Amino acid sequence: IGADRTLFFIFGATGDLARRKLFPAIYSLYREGKLSKRFAVIGLARRPRTNEQFRDDVSGSIREFARYKSEEDKQWDEFAGHFHYMSLDINKPEAFAELRKLADLLDDQYDIGGNRLFYLALAPELFGSVSNNLKEGGLLDSSGWHRLVIEKPFGYDLPSAQKLNEQIRQVFEEDEIYRIDHYLGKEMVQNIEVVRFANALFEPLWNNKYIANIQITLSETVGVEERGGYYDHAGALRDMGQNHMLQMITMMAMEPPSRMEPEDIRDEKVKVLRSLRIFKNADEVKEHVVRGQYSAGELKGKPLPAYRNEEGVPSDSVTETYFAAKVFVDNFRWAGVPFYIRTGKRLPVKTTEVVVEFKNMPENVYFSSKTKLEPNLLVFRVNPTEGIYLKMNAKRPGSQWGIVPIAMDFCQSCEVGINTPEAYERLLFDAARGDSTYFTRWDEVSLAWKFVDRIESAWREQSTDLQYYAAGSWGPEAAQQLLASDGFKWWPVN
Ligand code: BG6
Repeated sequence: IGADRTLFFIFGATGDLARRKLFPAIYSLYREGKLSKRFAVIGLARRPRTNEQFRDDVSGSIREFARYKSEEDKQWDEFAGHFHYMSLDINKPEAFAELRKLADLLDDQYDIGGNRLFYLALAPELFGSVSNNLKEGGLLDSSGWHRLVIEKPFGYDLPSAQKLNEQIRQVFEEDEIYRIDHYLGKEMVQNIEVVRFANALFEPLWNNKYIANIQITLSETVGVEERGGYYDHAGALRDMGQNHMLQMITMMAMEPPSRMEPEDIRDEKVKVLRSLRIFKNADEVKEHVVRGQYSAGELKGKPLPAYRNEEGVPSDSVTETYFAAKVFVDNFRWAGVPFYIRTGKRLPVKTTEVVVEFKNMPENVYFSSKTKLEPNLLVFRVNPTEGIYLKMNAKRPGSQWGIVPIAMDFCQSCEVGINTPEAYERLLFDAARGDSTYFTRWDEVSLAWKFVDRIESAWREQSTDLQYYAAGSWGPEAAQQLLASDGFKWWPVN
């Protein structure tokens, strides 16, 4: 099914997200025939720009970042003609009345039926006033549907997120709000449900009787890049933990939904978040969570500066660029199974992997405690390689008795001809057709903040437990200990 007729409003149209992700996503949808021909895009930013200049920007972005090459596109001019630009001061309500005129015009011209998707690629502080101005300017008076798509960070903690939500809710209903967590748009994150619930091989074992632990690694080689100002205020737990990592836990831990409806799936995810164990006090936090910050180091022979020397970062910053945690989902299925999660900047590789470590077989005639037996592992490779890896035990070939681990390794992203859609492509498509499954609902966001706030407040009480790791290393040693004390280890990635 294609997306509905849509008038896209891209706020922040001269920014990085629009250039790297949004324009290429719209183009892919267009090329694949997923977008109705009756669509238009209004790019909005403060900077003055003509339609022609804006179309050149869009063309440049597609040439650089899109999955499809625009050079081969005979209909390029037709596509570019759907893009319009308006310079807008978002603090001026009168400007929105002007925007309405343009919107009504394009609505008629492309016969869009009044359907409007407002994508705010803006700082969250602006979400409330922009929503309000959209309403005051009459942009929500059109006859079709209205949807607001917003980016993280959704608040800084629970109280600020609540405030932000209240502001937006004065204008939009919950079912009109699409909160992006781009990890939910990733192919292999969506695949977790399918692999779990469509395989007799896994579903019966997916519980505390057979699973020893689950590990989620989200490692990055980059530092804070040009985002020092934002990042230093946030830190790794807010930047990656509150959203992407907790969302991946919900996908791994949720019960099967009774229907394939967005609300049913989101209800199941909420139940997982409600079962997350909230650490009681600062000592419990210290026992279960490791935080680190990178000091100077090197990667592949290239020297790398310390976090505190990055642009926009105070030289005495105690913000974490790494965290690892042992998390529990206290429900019937998962009682006693640790979920180990870790993420960091300036680690040795860029990867996202989810590992399920199964419990070992009880000692039997095929092996004894003297023969070392590797546990079965199921690995979802999310990023950059997409695939599924399964590790099992088999007989060592030949006449000498022995057991060896063997692997079945399916690499989806290596298959020729499979060029899987980018996360933003799926999410924009879903927003335009009104499917909110892979967007986060308010109750998910608020429960995630509740979990994170407990840790953050303990860190404020005990600022001395920040550990330093050399840029280019795998993070503080204490993160190894977190598992070693339970008799486990982090499985190597890739
Ligand atoms: C973003 C974070 O949400 O995710 C960034 O703000 C991080 O700090 C990025 O680099 C990672 O996303 P991906 O898709 O490249 O793994």
